[in-house]
Amino acid sequence: MNSKIFSGRFYVIAGALLISACFVASIAFAQQQSDNPLTGNWAAASPSNDGYVRKAYFNLKQDGAKITGTIRATQFFYTIKENTGGPEGFTLMASMMDGKSERKVTYEGKLIGNELQIGRRNRPDQPITFQMAQRAPDGEGALPARVEPPALHKVKDNGLARTPPMGWNSWNKFAGRIDDATVRGVADAMATNGMKAAGYVYINIDDTWEGSRDAQGNITTNKKFPDMKALADYVHSKGLKLGIYSSPGPNTCAGYEGTYGHEEQDAQTFAKWGIDYLKYDWCGARTLYTDEEMPAIYQKMGDALLKTGRPIVYSLCQYGRLDVWKWGADVGGNLWRTTGDIRDTWDSMTNIGFRQNELAPYAKPGHWNDPDMLEIGNGGMTETEYRTHMSLWAILAAPLLAGNDLGNMTPATLEILTNKEVIAINQDKQGQQGKQVWKAGDQEIWTRPLAGGATAVAVFNRGKEEAKVTVKWADLQLAKRKTVRDLWLHQDIAAADPEYVATVPGHGVVLLRVK
Ligand code: GLA
Repeated sequence: MNSKIFSGRFYVIAGALLISACFVASIAFAQQQSDNPLTGNWAAASPSNDGYVRKAYFNLKQDGAKITGTIRATQFFYTIKENTGGPEGFTLMASMMDGKSERKVTYEGKLIGNELQIGRRNRPDQPITFQMAQRAPDGEGALPARVEPPALHKVKDNGLARTPPMGWNSWNKFAGRIDDATVRGVADAMATNGMKAAGYVYINIDDTWEGSRDAQGNITTNKKFPDMKALADYVHSKGLKLGIYSSPGPNTCAGYEGTYGHEEQDAQTFAKWGIDYLKYDWCGARTLYTDEEMPAIYQKMGDALLKTGRPIVYSLCQYGRLDVWKWGADVGGNLWRTTGDIRDTWDSMTNIGFRQNELAPYAKPGHWNDPDMLEIGNGGMTETEYRTHMSLWAILAAPLLAGNDLGNMTPATLEILTNKEVIAINQDKQGQQGKQVWKAGDQEIWTRPLAGGATAVAVFNRGKEEAKVTVKWADLQLAKRKTVRDLWLHQDIAAADPEYVATVPGHGVVLLRVK
């Protein structure tokens, strides 16, 4: 009895103590909040018309004048290193390691009522784009836990892409505006405008098709792609193939849902939809893995694709880091990007294209260096320059993925893209990438050995003015030859000894096939 009274009293006292402790703690918390109102997890949602909500998270801890914490935005995860100012106006300097380089970012913001106005300057010459962030529950938007990369092994060759893949990709022209109707239009165009007949077959949807994951973790499409399986059926009905895009990271480059932690599941989903090609873009994987771990991470998807049993071309996109050409084939890759993104300018295209020389030994049937997609017809270069683009990609045995609006192009663009004699160089069965054999100032000669003993000879003029370039047959080991054909003029030319003087327009090319 006594002990009962005792224990009853005990609980009353303990309860009272607990309540007052909570009270004190909550006052302290409120005090801390009002002293340090920036402290907390803030989420800023980016509205987009495809229904997928991309959020940036600012997980801040304010301690008087000091602000620490992390920022997660699209494919990036930064740690705050320095700040100036406070709730009424602050600047955050944050950074992250991206491979071997440090990526830095500066955000500016201020507290307005219960919301955080925050933004960054995308380019120094542009104004800041601000977003409003609201308080979010603790832990929301946290980076997922790191899964250790698997041990390395050699992934079996899938037997695909014996010649460089040919097709189309949505990114260069449409970026985030790609949708189901546009893809169907592109398929219609490719099937009927002579491109399919010339060998183009893949219709590749790049970033921004993704929705969120369902309760079972299956990736879904956003509003722009109501039914991926139906779209694949449509593309297949035209005798073409459908490609898709994802990232080994939690987020894609554009900040959409990545494959991280769902490798086999996504590969199965892609196979079920009828996907024939996957571009797998490093992007958000940089928040969890070092460059040295890339082979293991890419191998994981190489294995997962093979396991589906469906023939799916595997395209590695990690911008040529860690000498990918040395291990891309071992992890199951059919092609691997060798550079950063191409832009529709002469400088971008030539800086990329003419820098591929050393990589020639790594290209072979089934496994190709990928200097990025074509910009032909996108309007930033002249027709002469686009002919140079097409010729260089042919010499390089590069994938020919058109990047323009196929439903709306000039006859000249179509003619460049469907020059069958140039495509025959690109698609040569021997699969040997061409090399630079001569250079003087702005003029360069590249050759590519072809099956059956023929040779492609490209005379490039990178200068602005027309140039006369002397091709000395003996110097190119072409002393014995029967025919020389100009592949842009579509005519045989005199093959006389000892040399041929090519007249090459500024930024132009003369492309020959020597037999
Ligand atoms: C990266 C790739 C591009 C494109 C975009 C999409 O930048 O290199 O080719 O896929 O991502 O976000």
